[in-house]
Amino acid sequence: MAASSDTPMLRQYRELRAQVPDALLFYRMGDFYELFGEDAVWTAAALELTLTTRDRDTPDPLPMCGVPWHAADGYLRRLLDLGKKVAIAEQVEDPKQAKGIVRREIARVLTPGLAADGVEAREPSFLVAITGAPGAWGVAFLDASTGDLRAADLADLSALAGELARHAPREALLGRDIDCTEVRALLGEVCTTVIEDTRPDRHELSRRFGVATDALGAGLGAASTALRYAAERLRADLRNVTALRTFRVGTALGLDDATIRNLELFRPLRGTGKKGTLLGLLDRSQTAMGGRLLRDWLASPLMDVGAINERFDAVDAFTPGLRGTVVPLLGQVADLERISAKVAQGLGGPRELVALGLSLDRVATIASCLLDARLAARLPADLSPDVAADILHWLVEEPPAGLDDGNFIRSGAHPELDRLRGLATDAKGSIAGMEERLRGETDIGSLKIRHNDVFGYYIEITKAHLHKVPPAWHRKQTIANGERFITPELKEYEEAVSGADEKRIRIEGELFRALRERVGQHVPRLQAVARGVAELDVLATFAELAATHRWARPMLDDSRDIELVGSRHPVVEAARRDERFVPNDIKLGDRARLVLLFGPNMAGKSTLMRQVGLTVVMAQMGCPVPARSARIGLVDRLFVRVGASDDLARGQSTFMVEMGETANILAGGTARSLVLLDEIGRGTSTYDGLAIAWAVAEDLHDRIRARTLFATHYHELAALTESNVGARAMHVAVAESGDKITFLRVIREGPAPGSFGIQCARLAGLPPGVVARATQLLKQLEKKRPRVASTQLSLFGLGPPPEVEAPPPPPAPLADPVREAILAVDPDALTPREALEELYRLRRLAGE
Ligand SMILES: Nc1ncnc2c1ncn2[C@@H]1O[C@H](COP(=O)(O)OP(=O)(O)OP(=O)(O)O)[C@@H](O)[C@H]1O
Ligand SMILES: [Mg+2]
Repeated sequence: MAASSDTPMLRQYRELRAQVPDALLFYRMGDFYELFGEDAVWTAAALELTLTTRDRDTPDPLPMCGVPWHAADGYLRRLLDLGKKVAIAEQVEDPKQAKGIVRREIARVLTPGLAADGVEAREPSFLVAITGAPGAWGVAFLDASTGDLRAADLADLSALAGELARHAPREALLGRDIDCTEVRALLGEVCTTVIEDTRPDRHELSRRFGVATDALGAGLGAASTALRYAAERLRADLRNVTALRTFRVGTALGLDDATIRNLELFRPLRGTGKKGTLLGLLDRSQTAMGGRLLRDWLASPLMDVGAINERFDAVDAFTPGLRGTVVPLLGQVADLERISAKVAQGLGGPRELVALGLSLDRVATIASCLLDARLAARLPADLSPDVAADILHWLVEEPPAGLDDGNFIRSGAHPELDRLRGLATDAKGSIAGMEERLRGETDIGSLKIRHNDVFGYYIEITKAHLHKVPPAWHRKQTIANGERFITPELKEYEEAVSGADEKRIRIEGELFRALRERVGQHVPRLQAVARGVAELDVLATFAELAATHRWARPMLDDSRDIELVGSRHPVVEAARRDERFVPNDIKLGDRARLVLLFGPNMAGKSTLMRQVGLTVVMAQMGCPVPARSARIGLVDRLFVRVGASDDLARGQSTFMVEMGETANILAGGTARSLVLLDEIGRGTSTYDGLAIAWAVAEDLHDRIRARTLFATHYHELAALTESNVGARAMHVAVAESGDKITFLRVIREGPAPGSFGIQCARLAGLPPGVVARATQLLKQLEKKRPRVASTQLSLFGLGPPPEVEAPPPPPAPLADPVREAILAVDPDALTPREALEELYRLRRLAGE
């Protein structure tokens, strides 16, 4: 690319290009955004666009590709999803008025976290700024598409990890000081920019938000960093960011990344989309605002009984009759939040403003239906009818999308505009009249007056009649079957028409921009309305879901119990059509804080555990739960862990990940936590795994005292219930007849009577020959297992952990039935399973 041979346009392009070194440049030319050079080569490949060249004949032609401006959103989204930044250079003067080359400027730079257009309607688009120093982190999350800004100080890396998991930011800004591997690892693939200056701009923050700037430490710098970055990139003042919300860790139910993943709250463990997730089940909200709020509530369930009950009261107030009127109305409310955000940035076209105006009217109707004070209070008193009136006074109801041709201002709204429109219509009428007259005068019946953008108006005459054309006409163009002419009279009309039209379009544009500017002044009020609508939408959705799926309002208290009667897995149940989902009763509490859950493969252990976790999440977000009744003592942190081999999809060194995640529980769990462990320990050799599982279970029971459900195939763990008062064994039962098993899906007290692995394998379709061989092998193994059995016995005999003193042995009974029964046992004749069963029989005997 030889700069000396550059055309003025290319020189302009290069100047703009240099302003945005880290972004692709979309350069507006007429109806297209064009990309040049390396940008073009890369983008054409990524988006499968046709790569062409400019100045084909030069020795070193410049590659280029382009996308039509009206379809740019989709392409932009894809580039941003690929982690790219895109600068948009717009024409800033009318090409018709331009002397020489049209002036262009960078209108905004879109980055993965800062996309004005093309963001998923029902998802937030967070940019996170992380500042401070290890141990005193500051974070701020900014969603510029709505104006949501929240900041916090965080004391440790796990808190930072938690907030990142909760907000799922699309882009990150890192202060230079903390650009370290730990933080980078937490961010994973998120597009990250290192920022030199992360100092808080206290003056600006207090001017904007009126916040006391000593309320936050490092979080303040993060908020400033996010705002500066966004304002600079979007070339906008971000008037839609009207509040800084500070939050504290520990005020919401703690959900870490592994828990969010394993519970499939937002994404399925396998596959993409929302199918099979709790979000997919719950998000039946009518508006995009409701969809985003629901997601937010799901990511941050509450920790305050009062606040949760307030939500449930509102859900209760949404009676079927009220839902019947309000839900359809909600469906007609546009995305007030994102439209006002665009308007505040001087973006948004006539259609969006009209949608805003009509929606405000709709909200007023909704408000008039809400007689219940608990619901009415969700909407602000001021529903901005003046803003709606202003918009609907000026704009027609179905305006065109763009500003280029006008036709969006109502007639009657502006006298001068009406006059110009009249002129244009008159002129058009005159042209029709002129056509008639000229046909008469020239005796050419086929004479037509036409118009195109290049020549304006002209008279078209076919070859056959050319001899009749009056000499005073000016020939303008020869075409295949005739000629085109103009006359002074026609020229005059044309000037009147196009002059009037240009003026009309200009005035319409000015009126629109003034209107948008006025509406932009009211963004805080509009946001309050949007927030209220979103809440009503989510609450109505909860009420609707509860009715559809027979969910119940749970009772929440500060106890450490969880009592579910007739509990189901919400997602699995909803996905069932033919087979019924079998409800179960589940009880956890101080006397049953560690529940070991046994049962053969496929019995339903994992399902049961997850349904408890999901139920707690739903309850604390204010959503009715899949149970006949439920009483839940508030949970502060929820941990869901799955043993390594269930987690293949992630393709990591699974056992290490599993152990790391388990370590986090032992470090962060409390007596208020709920821990769900699904076959933890199985990713390594049997005895290592068993020993780890055992020690973890003991620590949870003794030291942490968290409510724990532990699903496992290690039958040996049942022995934990012997010496630990808060430990219980339960199993998901199957019915056995011959060598066949039927899954009952009900949970029962006590450990499972057998493991039935081979029967399960048969059910799964393992060839009969292999099943027969396995059965034979199992028999042999069980016979030959004295060594194994003794290991088991030694495990049983491990007794309490070293630092705890052993309880005194119970006084030996003299002569009793238990003693007799023990003496009657021939240990060498028993399989390990029989031995275990014998042990239980003995225990029962002893208990009688
Ligand atoms: N209560 C229930 N009612 C009906 N179907 C159920 C119920 N619980 C589980 N299921 C179904 O049973 C199947 C197996 O469940 P799950 O994966 O929970 O078993 P598991 O005991 O964890 O098995 P594994 O030990 O192999 O991990 C799933 O398809 C699930 O949908
Ligand atoms: Mg399982």
